[in-house]
Amino acid sequence: MSTAPKPYGVDARPKRQATAKKIASMKGTTPIVCLTAYITPMAARLDSYCDLLLVGDSVGMVLYGMDSTLGVDLDTMIRHGRAVCRGAKQALVVIDMPFGTYEESKEQAFRNAAKALSETGAGAVKLEGGVEMAETVSFLSKRGIPVLGHVGLMPQSVHAHGGYAARGRDVNEWAPIIADAQAIAAAGAFAVVVEGVAEPLARKITEEVACPIIGIGASNACDGQILVTEDMLGLFAMNPKFVKRFAELGQGIEAAISDYADEVRDRSFPSEEYTYKMKGSNS
Ligand code: KIV
Repeated sequence: MSTAPKPYGVDARPKRQATAKKIASMKGTTPIVCLTAYITPMAARLDSYCDLLLVGDSVGMVLYGMDSTLGVDLDTMIRHGRAVCRGAKQALVVIDMPFGTYEESKEQAFRNAAKALSETGAGAVKLEGGVEMAETVSFLSKRGIPVLGHVGLMPQSVHAHGGYAARGRDVNEWAPIIADAQAIAAAGAFAVVVEGVAEPLARKITEEVACPIIGIGASNACDGQILVTEDMLGLFAMNPKFVKRFAELGQGIEAAISDYADEVRDRSFPSEEYTYKMKGSNS
């Protein structure tokens, strides 16, 4: 038997209170609170306030300075997934499947989703796509992998769509988006993220689809909401219309760094209070 230490303390994983099943049961009863998380200390702070923490592939843009999510790989998602699972004790942790790791076949999707769950301790995966991904969602769901769908504006399809503009602002665009949400729900997704759609469309999808609809830029008609945490804290430069900044931590950070730089330069930091003395000296 191998005595090699497990890389992330699998045996010490706490049992989470929130499961995909619990999130599914919240449809029409309790609004579902979701945020993104990529690192342990942030996950620990968010955990008790959130039902679901998404390790989003937005990590590529938010933490690594990429200009889209397309360059994020599975190893990066797994590394951040482990970090978030170390910090989250009660929220359901969901790992985003990055571009190119699930679209080719349902078998490819299963292999990579199983790796993501078994190597992190997360409880579900998210993947983008509608009707064309329904067979894959069904394949994963029937084999023990809870799936969170993602339709409407799908950032991994930015090249195909030609940008990040909101969808469904013209009623003629509605039918395929509704069909996408219906197909993913019918295939067994425990919930579906609907991104960047006009309010009447979000309302119709929420009313007609059996599983919870988690909105991002999709109005308060949805069953729950998700935002990128760094966006709502004012830590990320981009500020889409749908993001309410609940804080301006970016400004707070800059003020603190500026004070630090001044105090290092004028030698007022570190003052005596932050300085070790020799043993036996009286301060
Ligand atoms: O990657 C991400 O953070 C997401 C959410 C914004 C839904 O997909």
